[in-house]
Formats: sequence, C-alpha cells, structure tokens
Amino acid sequence: MAFKRFQPLSVSRNLTLKNRLVLPPMASQTANTDGKVTEQTLAHYARLSRSGAGLLMVEYSFVTEDGRSEPHQLGAHDDNCLHGLTQLASLLKETGAVAGLQLTHCGGKTTPDVTLDMMGPSSITVPAYDRELTAPRAMEKADIDHWQRAFIEAAIRAETAGFDLVELHCAHGYGLNQWLSPLTNQRHDEYGGSLRNRARMLLEIVASIRLFSPDLTLMVRVPGQDGYPDGLSREDMAQVCEWLVEAGVALINVSSGIGGWKRPKDKRGEGYLVDDAAYLKQQLTVPVIGVGGIETPEYIEQALANQWLDLAAVGRFLLADPDHFRTTLLSEPTVQTA
Ligand SMILES: Cc1cc2nc3c(=O)[nH]c(=O)nc-3n(C[C@H](O)[C@H](O)[C@H](O)COP(=O)(O)O)c2cc1C
Repeated sequence: MAFKRFQPLSVSRNLTLKNRLVLPPMASQTANTDGKVTEQTLAHYARLSRSGAGLLMVEYSFVTEDGRSEPHQLGAHDDNCLHGLTQLASLLKETGAVAGLQLTHCGGKTTPDVTLDMMGPSSITVPAYDRELTAPRAMEKADIDHWQRAFIEAAIRAETAGFDLVELHCAHGYGLNQWLSPLTNQRHDEYGGSLRNRARMLLEIVASIRLFSPDLTLMVRVPGQDGYPDGLSREDMAQVCEWLVEAGVALINVSSGIGGWKRPKDKRGEGYLVDDAAYLKQQLTVPVIGVGGIETPEYIEQALANQWLDLAAVGRFLLADPDHFRTTLLSEPTVQTA
C-alpha cells in the first residue's frame, strides 16, 4: 500500500517537496536583541531538521525594526542579517528539505517596550486570546510605502540567503491580518472599506515580490477565518486566496485568525483547524497546508485521502521530539506476514 504522506509534491516550477509533512513556523526566541541568528538558533534548527519534514519553515522574522513583537525575535530587516540567515538556510537544505522563511510586520500586535512606534491600519486595539494590547496609531501613506518596501527587501534578502520560499504572515492577528480584517481596518482610503481594498496592502506586496524575485516561491499564511463576530469569514478568505493565487502565490497555509495561533476554546481534536483548510482546498488550484494538533499517521493519511489538505503541518508534536516525529510519521510501517 502506498502511503500518501511519502509522496513528493511539486509546488512551483523549481521546487518539489520530498514528502507531505511540514514544520510550521514557530518562534524560538533564540535571536540576539538585534534580531541576528545565534549559535542557539542554529542548534535549534539543526535539531528540528532531524524530523525529515519536506518543508522546514523558519519562524516569524520581522521585516523592519518597527515590525518586531518580541525582544529575541529573528530579523530579516537589514543586510547584517544575511550571514546568519545564509547559515540557517544552508543547514536546513542539507537534509534535502525545502527551506522557507516567514516574514512578519506585527503592526499593532506588540508592546511599547519592544516597539516605540506602534502602527496599524487604523487606531484600533487588535483583539487577542492571550494578551491585552493597546491601540496603535493609524498609518499614513508614507508608512504604507515603508512597510511594503520592508517586506520586498526582506524577501530579496531571504532569497539571497538561499531560502527557497518566503511566507508572508497574514494570520494570528499580525500586521497583514490587521489590514485584511474589517475589525482592525476601518480606513476610508483605497486600503480600507471593501474586501478588495483591505486586501490591497497584501496583494501589492505579493505583486512587487513577484516582480523583483520572480524565481522565489511565495506562500501566504492566512486565517481560515478571523474567529470573531463580524471578522473575516471563510467566504472572504476563499476570495482573498483566489486573488493571491492570481497574483502568483504558489501555496496557501491555513491557520487561525485574529485572536492568535493558540487553540480557540471551541476547537477540539486532532486537526482542529483542518476544516477551514478543507473549505479553501475545495476552491483553490494551488496546494493547501492544514494545521492544528496533528500527530498521527492515521489522521494524516485520512486528511490526504479525503483531500482536506495537500500538506500537513505538525508544530508542537515535532518541536517536542523531532526524532520521535520522524519514527512515528515518516518511517514506513513494516508489513507483518503470517
Ligand atoms: C512556541 C510556538 C511558537 C509559534 N510561533 C509561530 C510563528 O512564528 N509563526 C506562526 O505563523 N505560527 C507560530 N506558531 C503556531 C504554529 O505554527 C502552529 O500553527 C500551532 O502550533 C498549531 O499547530 P500544532 O497544534 O501542530 O502545534 C507557534 C506555535 C508555537 C507552539
């Protein structure tokens, strides 16, 4: 019997994943306070790469100083980051995996002791499951240009460092999620109002990265929905993903919405966010990643067979023990003969 999780998947003209398992981005808090890779960061990812997952994502990395949300967050914000990022990409790729870097601007999801100039699409406090935030200032047109340039330059830096793929973080209430969501974007200019206008920030960044780095594979981590009343719905997200694919995004990674990545109280069981991924998968032509408490080969085979997802991301189970992950999820079971 051919297990689907071992099947390679071509995700773009120049990239094929060796299997269907993904290490999702998980902040390690190992960077120094300048956002640079440390020995601890390299050791952390060397350990995770033992998992054998086909796609290894590096944690959310800030694109500009005002986009950081934690003191030991990794940065991709200036050329001094290149040396460490190059070491990181190279150690991940040594395992035959595809290496990706997640890029983030936190917008209003930070604290004044980390980022003095907190800014967002509107001066509205970002709702969060796990923390109390304060309202950022509303961004001006010059701030929009600054963010967009920062994302584009960070993507070019990631490509220069040897990453195969860049993921724009548009979930969990971070900056790009704030632009998309009607809860946090109540602007009256061309970047607010209709869904198309709220998606403009993201779509313009995607278009520019495609222009400057045409060979770089682009992925977006989207919320399946916001998970708050009057927030982004599944239908909104299907429309946004369609625009993203038209703009050249090769993969969609479906996670949770504006409240954060932590398991919402009403979500239970293995694959607790996968129904959102399955909904989007039905409507999209590009591969879809699903996540949420996945940890057994049986669940992964079922999700692939039922076309709920194309790739399964396994976070905390892999983080806890990459070797156990490999033997549990990526070793061919031996066939018992009578
Ligand atoms: C310690 C930790 C850090 C995380 N950091 C990020 C991050 O940097 N970017 C991101 O998109 N998600 C982040 N997440 C969310 C995970 O990528 C994943 O979506 C979540 O853990 C659910 O998957 P799981 O149930 O398999 O762990 C983080 C999760 C954990 C546990």
